[in-house]
Amino acid sequence: MADSTAADSTESIAASAVIEDGAVIGANVTIAAGAVVRAGSVIGDNCVLQENCVVGKPPVLGSASTARSEVATAILGAEVSVLAGAIVFAGAELADGVIIGDHAIVRENVSIGRRSVVGANVVVENETTVGQRVKIQTGAYVTAQMIVEDDVFIAPAVVTTNDNTMGRHAANEVNRGPILRRGCRVGAAAVLLPGVTVGEEAFVAAGALVTRDVSPRMLAMGSPAREIRKVEAATTES
Ligand SMILES: CC(C)(COP(=O)(O)OP(=O)(O)OC[C@H]1O[C@@H](n2cnc3c(N)ncnc32)[C@H](O)[C@@H]1OP(=O)(O)O)[C@@H](O)C(=O)NCCC(=O)NCCS
Repeated sequence: MADSTAADSTESIAASAVIEDGAVIGANVTIAAGAVVRAGSVIGDNCVLQENCVVGKPPVLGSASTARSEVATAILGAEVSVLAGAIVFAGAELADGVIIGDHAIVRENVSIGRRSVVGANVVVENETTVGQRVKIQTGAYVTAQMIVEDDVFIAPAVVTTNDNTMGRHAANEVNRGPILRRGCRVGAAAVLLPGVTVGEEAFVAAGALVTRDVSPRMLAMGSPAREIRKVEAATTES
């Protein structure tokens, strides 16, 4: 294990940071005290890794886990920020300008598109794809095998699910996370059941329990959520 060796004169790496062998550190990268960059991780130019974050952590899977055990290395584009205490697993890919908030967790085989923001205490589980300019706010739970398209907004404490059997299905059955289509918004503390699709520019009201697909540009509310009206055109992006 190599400790904080500067490969470029513009880097700022704290003495207590740990950079494992084979990690590739770009130009002008800041790595704060206690941060750990695991072997093979790729850190792009101008990235900021704050105190005690971990990049490239390999997953430890339970014996019954259906998650893939083979993972690549973590790859961070340019100008990515991983804030204090956050964990980015091996096999995660963060595009340019992504921000991972304090104590957030991004699991293996997740990809996150340009300029998306993952808030504090958010968890993004394995195999999930997040598009560009997505906002995932504090404490949201983004389950495995989800698709989150560009410009989606996920409010604080949203919970998404992917397994109606709660672990009692055959090993070869794949979990189905929700699909959030481009530009949809999901309000605070909404719960999305496995496999539902929220359509383009749709609006899920705060506290809704989404059991069925929500049509594009419709506002769904309540438990179970019902489509009650069209989203006002003035508040949609197209
Ligand atoms: C959908 C929303 C915008 C309210 O819509 P609205 O049409 O302005 O609703 P109103 O306040 O006029 O209320 C209309 C009725 O719906 C009810 N209602 C409002 N919001 C509701 C909700 N989320 N779930 C269930 N019922 C709701 C009201 O109690 C009211 O019922 P009543 O007529 O029997 O009194 C709001 O509920 C919401 O989800 N906001 C998103 C907040 C959020 O999560 N932001 C994230 C970033 S902080």
